[in-house]
Amino acid sequence: MLGGLTPRAFLRRHWQKRPLFVRGALPRFAGMIDASALCVLARRDDVESRIVERRGNRWETEHGPFERISIRDSRWTILVSGVNLHLAAADDLLRRFQFIPQARLDDVMVSYATPGGGVGPHVDSYDVFLVQGFGRRRWRVGRREYLTGPGDLLYVPPGMRHDGVALGPCATYSVGFRAPRGAELGAAFLDWLHERGLPDAAYRDPGLRPTTNPSLIPKQMLDFTSSVLGKISWSRKDALGFLGEYLTMPKAHVVFRPFRPGSGARPLRRSLVRLDAKTQLLYSGQRFFINGEAVIVPRRHASALRKLADSRLLDGERLAAQPLAALICGWRRLGYLHFERP
Ligand code: SIN
Ligand code: CO
Repeated sequence: MLGGLTPRAFLRRHWQKRPLFVRGALPRFAGMIDASALCVLARRDDVESRIVERRGNRWETEHGPFERISIRDSRWTILVSGVNLHLAAADDLLRRFQFIPQARLDDVMVSYATPGGGVGPHVDSYDVFLVQGFGRRRWRVGRREYLTGPGDLLYVPPGMRHDGVALGPCATYSVGFRAPRGAELGAAFLDWLHERGLPDAAYRDPGLRPTTNPSLIPKQMLDFTSSVLGKISWSRKDALGFLGEYLTMPKAHVVFRPFRPGSGARPLRRSLVRLDAKTQLLYSGQRFFINGEAVIVPRRHASALRKLADSRLLDGERLAAQPLAALICGWRRLGYLHFERP
């Protein structure tokens, strides 16, 4: 897929450095969803979508969900994010990039465009692999131009200007990554600290004297503030706890479908356990994070759970000992994973 490069060589030479174009990277790839199925997704309120239409040198964007979609003959494009959450084949495409940590993988966005369509020249703050589905598109990346057809792959590093114009009706699959900015992490971390309880001493000033400068901020109040803030502390462990919850937190519109036990309840021991495409399960040592929640697992069970996290699929037999089994069954009830016939 990387044009003869090993993942190691790709990461060293191209990742966050320079584009890579690979003709026929995914042979026989013609995409996995057609325009009308994409429009069906764009009408759902649990799916993020937009339509971009070019008028002269302006690109007008409308955000979904859409009630009615009329595909224009030209200069029109519809983009649907998170298609991997709804379509197993798109999830498979995302997982082909597993040589990059899952904490970095974001989603597969699919766009369908009519001739002249595209989102216009722009830079993204994240890395993206653009895989061409059916049809052709002309990409300008920095100062270079690439004509892509079905199965071609173009890697664009963050911050590099690019512009893809549809040459005919065409579909493009963008495998995108996430790289949180410091300010975003900082703000989310402060919320996390707040939820865990911040020092909450009450301010008191029993020795207060009458003031002749009523607008002056009292020194005592500043001392109190500075001492309270000085008590806010965290360890690397807390940073991990925060990061794991943050990275696995489902996006706002993601909903899990809880499992309703029916007559054909399949026992864990005789099932193949598969993580739901919407589930993010990450770990560090014995600490696991699933869809925004943290769990610590006894050492003897950690390796089986790590295996499930890495391969997203595991023989139920390996997860069937307590207390791990109870955890797995709980996650099944929440719709975080499914039991399948082996
Ligand atoms: C597109 O699919 O039209 C846009 C993808 C991108 O520029 O990242
Ligand atoms: Co882009």
